[in-house]
Amino acid sequence: MRTPLTSIRGFSQTLLSSWDRIDDDNKKKFIKIIEEQSNRLINLVENILTVSKANAGNIIMQKVYINASIKSIVPMFQEQYKNHKFIFKPQKDLPPARLDDDKFQQIMTNLIDNGAKYSPEGSAVTITTELADEMIVIKVIDQGIGIKMEDGDKLFKKFSRIENHLTSKTQGNGLGLYITKQLVESMNGSISFESEPGCGTTFYIKFPVYNEEEVLKCSQKS
Ligand SMILES: Nc1ncnc2c1ncn2[C@@H]1O[C@H](COP(=O)(O)OP(=O)(O)OP(=O)(O)O)[C@@H](O)[C@H]1O
Ligand SMILES: [Mg+2]
Repeated sequence: MRTPLTSIRGFSQTLLSSWDRIDDDNKKKFIKIIEEQSNRLINLVENILTVSKANAGNIIMQKVYINASIKSIVPMFQEQYKNHKFIFKPQKDLPPARLDDDKFQQIMTNLIDNGAKYSPEGSAVTITTELADEMIVIKVIDQGIGIKMEDGDKLFKKFSRIENHLTSKTQGNGLGLYITKQLVESMNGSISFESEPGCGTTFYIKFPVYNEEEVLKCSQKS
């Protein structure tokens, strides 16, 4: 948390104290860094709040059309990672899922962020949705460095990062996937991945379809 805050403070102080001496290009560059680091801080605070359980119990399950939900967050990534391509391939007429939309967006944010962070500039992060065996399946596919199978156990542990040339270059706390798994499972979903080191990784998440009758039955019980 300290790193983004330190850089936000540092660049703001430099802009304030040396405004007349900095040319427009550099001003823009500094403000861009402040914006990027603020976005990072927002995601980080969101993740920490979930870990601290201050927020985790607060899950409101609703009828969510996930294609619309994903569509609303993709432009934010294109803005943040300008040199990546974000491709969304939704299945048409996908039935709704029973989810907490904010938590679903937090899950997608963590997976898409990883897909971009651990892959080279210019590569594509593809998100697909489909219905398979009565489950809604979402894939986040990247063309990045990949994950070795033997590191699979570490992946979803709290504060765990895997050593590679991009983890040392990128910022992270090793919280994203830990929280993602907790959130997916608390909404009756599952998460898994497949990877080929050097070629890319696909994360799969699956959620049950929203079932109107089941919801009616439950509300009659109470
Ligand atoms: N799509 C991916 N491709 C390659 N490696 C990945 C991918 N996603 C995660 N990893 C590896 O798994 C580790 C754990 O991921 P996680 O999202 O939990 O943490 P982080 O990205 O390091 O930090 P944070 O998400 O808290 O900012 C990462 O440090 C990275 O080494
Ligand atoms: Mg992450």
